[in-house]
Amino acid sequence: MSTLEIIQAPAARIDADVLVLAAAPPSDGGATGILRTGACLEGIDVSAVEAALPSLGFSGSLDAVVRIPSAIAAPADRAISARTILVVGTGRGLALAESADHDAAALGLTRASVLSRAAGRAARELAGVERAVLALPSTEAADLTAVAEGAMTGAYAWRGRVPAPTEPLAAITISSPLAGGARAEEARTRAVTLGEAVALTRDLVNEPPNRLVPEALAERAASAARSAGIGVDALDERELAEQGFGGILAVGQGAANPPRLVRLEWAPSGARAHVALVGKGITFDSGGLSLKPPASMPEMKSDMAGAATVLGAVLAAARLELPVRVTAWLALAENMPGPCAQRPSDIITMRGGTTVEVTNTDAEGRLVMADALARAVEDSPDAVLDVATLTGAQIVALGDHVSGVMGTPTVRDAVARAAAGAGESFWPMPLPEQLRPGLDSPYAALRNAVVGSRAGGMLTAGLFLREFVGSTPWAHLDIAGPAFNERAPWGATPTGGTGHGVATLLAYLRAASK
Ligand code: BES
Ligand code: MN
Ligand code: ZN
Repeated sequence: MSTLEIIQAPAARIDADVLVLAAAPPSDGGATGILRTGACLEGIDVSAVEAALPSLGFSGSLDAVVRIPSAIAAPADRAISARTILVVGTGRGLALAESADHDAAALGLTRASVLSRAAGRAARELAGVERAVLALPSTEAADLTAVAEGAMTGAYAWRGRVPAPTEPLAAITISSPLAGGARAEEARTRAVTLGEAVALTRDLVNEPPNRLVPEALAERAASAARSAGIGVDALDERELAEQGFGGILAVGQGAANPPRLVRLEWAPSGARAHVALVGKGITFDSGGLSLKPPASMPEMKSDMAGAATVLGAVLAAARLELPVRVTAWLALAENMPGPCAQRPSDIITMRGGTTVEVTNTDAEGRLVMADALARAVEDSPDAVLDVATLTGAQIVALGDHVSGVMGTPTVRDAVARAAAGAGESFWPMPLPEQLRPGLDSPYAALRNAVVGSRAGGMLTAGLFLREFVGSTPWAHLDIAGPAFNERAPWGATPTGGTGHGVATLLAYLRAASK
């Protein structure tokens, strides 16, 4: 993890390799403008930087970056401590964020998310650099928090690569007049905690599936829980059988690596609410006997992203000592074909007794999630949120950057609000009753997948899960696309595991604790 310092000195005086400024594109024929308001720019000739930008082909567009020698911006009497200035473009986001009258606002485009993205984009660009100082708007606590959170999430690099691991930006300094006060300390704590949680989630998603089998993921969760001082308990395959977890066992039975169900609990005294979180943890999804085509498979190492997200969120809630009780469930299995694999047309009995005809072994996520949801609601939480890379249909409907959220309208909408406040995109989707008969089976209470139609696939999966939450207020978060970035990095998001959803869960828990 990068270190984070907030100090009062003007950025030009702070010892660093690179000084970071943000700029927006010209409006109405004006010049590309460095974001001045709220930034500690004393000792920097900002107009000289602005004058140099056009000839460098930099116009402040979203995620654009350019590096210039700081000598360009040094007033005659005094050099700037950092040798280099990096300018990062914000695009027109700040202007757009002033009005809430567009979809982008509901998708998390706020002043905070624009500043956070700029800081994150810059920190990502500076991988391998020792020390950077950020001179972005930071005089208001909300701006400072956004800049700090963005920098900490953008500074991520996956350290697991052999030979040549990528090193992240090592040290981040933010110049802010709030330094030394309680609000700066809070911003720092929030940013470090979110950065750690998102990094853990990304690390786990990036880990290859031969190394991260269910038992290994359970162990990683347990050791993280112990260092955060929260309770953890894992059911092995024998205990799962004794306790009737027919869905998790059926999915795991084709694999040599047995399934697990992990329960983590942050239970502070004085908790104002109890929220259960359930995460899909398929460490590899081959499809089982309903085998996936080869091109769809490599990404399926990320099919445990829901579990990794939920793990990151409960650890962060504990580290921040949020006054809300959180029970997190990780439903872990490997979905493989093999002599013991479940067959399409098998009938299984889930936790709680519901029977399911398995028409498609590639609709495995809903089977492990159903068991874990049924168990989670036995503790009578005030709400249950489940997070899963559940359907390809989510990607067809909403693409790679926007997740779907379904469920009890109040909880569903609270999740969408939490996401927008956290700068993430979750769009509310319906659970149309007319799709429910597609899950009827002549042989069992339910079937796991509609036969012969893919219409509304994300919604059907949500309707399946709804059968297992009883009357507990519930939301289902389908993060299939956004959890894993197969393309180029953008904003603070790297290639590979993204950590999408951690900030939303944390914002939801923070709201639930008030
Ligand atoms: N893990 C997949 C969903 C997925 C697809 C996640 C692409 C990320 C990227 C899930 O287990 C799955 O295979 N779902 C099937 C369900 C279908 C058989 C009803 C799907 O979406 O095709
Ligand atoms: Mn599948
Ligand atoms: Zn899956």
